[in-house]
Amino acid sequence: MRPRVFITRNVPGEDALARLRASCDVTIGTYSSILTAEEILHGAREADALLCLLTDRIDAALLTQCARLRVIASCSVGVDHIDLAAATQRGIPVGHTPGVLTETTADLAFALLLAAARRIGEADRFVRTRQWTLARRWEPDLLLGKDLFGATLGIVGLGAIGQAVARRAQGFGMRVLAWNRTPKCVEGVECVSFNTLLAESDFVSLHVALGAETKQLIDEAALARMQPGAVLVNTARGAVVDQGALVSALRSGKLAAAGLDVFEQEPLETDSPLLQLENVVLAPHIGSASDATRRRMTAASVENLLAGLTGKPLPHCANPTVYAVKNP
Ligand code: NAP
Ligand code: GLV
Repeated sequence: MRPRVFITRNVPGEDALARLRASCDVTIGTYSSILTAEEILHGAREADALLCLLTDRIDAALLTQCARLRVIASCSVGVDHIDLAAATQRGIPVGHTPGVLTETTADLAFALLLAAARRIGEADRFVRTRQWTLARRWEPDLLLGKDLFGATLGIVGLGAIGQAVARRAQGFGMRVLAWNRTPKCVEGVECVSFNTLLAESDFVSLHVALGAETKQLIDEAALARMQPGAVLVNTARGAVVDQGALVSALRSGKLAAAGLDVFEQEPLETDSPLLQLENVVLAPHIGSASDATRRRMTAASVENLLAGLTGKPLPHCANPTVYAVKNP
């Protein structure tokens, strides 16, 4: 019998999906918004394999009810939406998509950094709201921002995306500091303690995975240690930052600006104070959103699923200890 695969929502990449369909019965959820737990269960209950998105919460309660499930592939690098321990305990390898989205996400982080530094959002609103009048044709002090050249960038989490951001910063003539849980040697990057990074950086960009240890890593105390007038960029996960403390730091002027692609709650609440702040550039979690990268992510997810369904190790497994559990 052909394995059954449930894909929670349609994903770009017809070629890769055709490869999957060649050997599997594929069902794709027709939901136009984020799936509820019931909707995921409805599709996954009888499935041998699940392709999910970062918006799909895959917890122990769901896994218990999906007795046939042999492999999960998330079309994302981050896997904080999946209970990895529960999957491992059930012998289910969980695939993800590192590498293929590194440069695209680093581009977005750098775009936010530039936009926040040079006040591009404010400038755009200034022109659109017809404030750019003949009387104000060119003003010596209009929308003054911060230079990147010669400034110090602190990278929190020197993984694949952190390193790709470091390469961009070097091209812009920045001094690059980094803090990483596991000390790492990367050319042109000075590895420093977390507190030194906060104290010395004009710009701080976050690239750690979200887990118990990194939740609210940037809290009130960390923000207080940052340079007055520093800029914070977050393309990692919203919960890495205490959003309330960030709003206070942006309001008080402790931080000059922030560029944010990720939030504690997504979508951002309609009454979020962040929406009222001029000195924030906001994006709706689009770090990996280029057509080519999204197709590569689907292809990587399909490779993970096909490997799992044929009993092979996943090319990119987020819970490799599952194999030790399976073969003690
Ligand atoms: P990666 O290469 O695996 O890097 C992960 C980084 O997080 C490493 O520096 C790692 O440190 C650190 N880390 C993991 N667990 C930690 C912990 N408990 N304490 C401290 N540091 C920890 O992953 P990546 O491809 O660079 O992606 C990084 C993150 O970016 C993803 O997890 C995801 O949340 C986010 N992301 C967002 C978007 C977006 O659309 N905005 C797109 C892609 C990725 P070690 O070197 O010590 O392991
Ligand atoms: C995006 O946020 C990802 O983790 O791939």
